[in-house]
Amino acid sequence: MRSFMGRDILSLKDFERNEFFHVFDVAAELEPIARSRRNADMLKEKTLVTAFYQPSTRTRLAHEAAMHRLGGHVVGFADPKMTRAGDFYQESIKDTVKMLEFYGDVIVMRHFQQGAPHEAAKWASIPVINGGDGWGEHPTQILTDLYTVLREKGRIDGLNWLAVGDMRMRTMHSLAYGLTQFDCPITFVAPPEMRLTEPFKEELKQYSLDFKEAEHVEQAISTADVILVEPVVQPDYTKSRDERTGSVDLTPANYKITRELLATKGKPDAILLHSLPRMDEIPPDVDITRWSRYWQEAFNGVVMRMALLALVLGAME
Ligand code: CP
Repeated sequence: MRSFMGRDILSLKDFERNEFFHVFDVAAELEPIARSRRNADMLKEKTLVTAFYQPSTRTRLAHEAAMHRLGGHVVGFADPKMTRAGDFYQESIKDTVKMLEFYGDVIVMRHFQQGAPHEAAKWASIPVINGGDGWGEHPTQILTDLYTVLREKGRIDGLNWLAVGDMRMRTMHSLAYGLTQFDCPITFVAPPEMRLTEPFKEELKQYSLDFKEAEHVEQAISTADVILVEPVVQPDYTKSRDERTGSVDLTPANYKITRELLATKGKPDAILLHSLPRMDEIPPDVDITRWSRYWQEAFNGVVMRMALLALVLGAME
């Protein structure tokens, strides 16, 4: 297996099956630190640089929390407007990361342009982690989700997935690439204008992903072991910021997971994931049902980032 030390985490297309399991093993080993709310000293000589060109609650703070849990340090920015990349100069990714690499030992970048973290990785001499790039990918989120499935169901292979939401979404791309390494049939349910693109479907066929599409969650929920939901009412991920102006649409029933739907049509032992933030696609009364696992997913988001930071910084082999 390739070493993770010094490696960029840009895409799940790059991940081999045994590498998924290795990351999950490291996460399980580090999990007790987060669970006991301790800070260890594994990365006490290392610094994480956060470069966030787009809003985030979870991805940035989970990486920062993970670094603190391992005793490391954090510098960075959460709003590019307060940097030279976001003012008159419009400083390039290259010039920016040529600075950032002197301020720390690993960079996590979120950007509104697809491929921006890849561009950063081209110029940085330290590892770059993709914290979400436009409609591109969100590999650390889907590693979190797969780890959550493993912890909650005891396995990944052999489980049926239902993915609901906007298939242009970066999480959906990382999910589809990730599942190519497992025995997991998946059904995608999305509004017509948000369906998987033909080129992407062709790519998934070449990777032998067992997938199909449906129009309504009711057509697929009864066989789903894992239900992963994203909004269909959401901002434009190619913008640095997309403010809400006025009222927003409600989510049509086709793309909504309600308590009643789970109770009447869902498998009793299915699990429901959502990387959050949400709109109304999962109403709050689902939170305290037996299906919801998104708070566990949020905890695992810290654990997974601990594992990735420890691996790319060479603290765990
Ligand atoms: N799931 C996720 O990426 O959340 P944030 O946008 O808050 O980072």
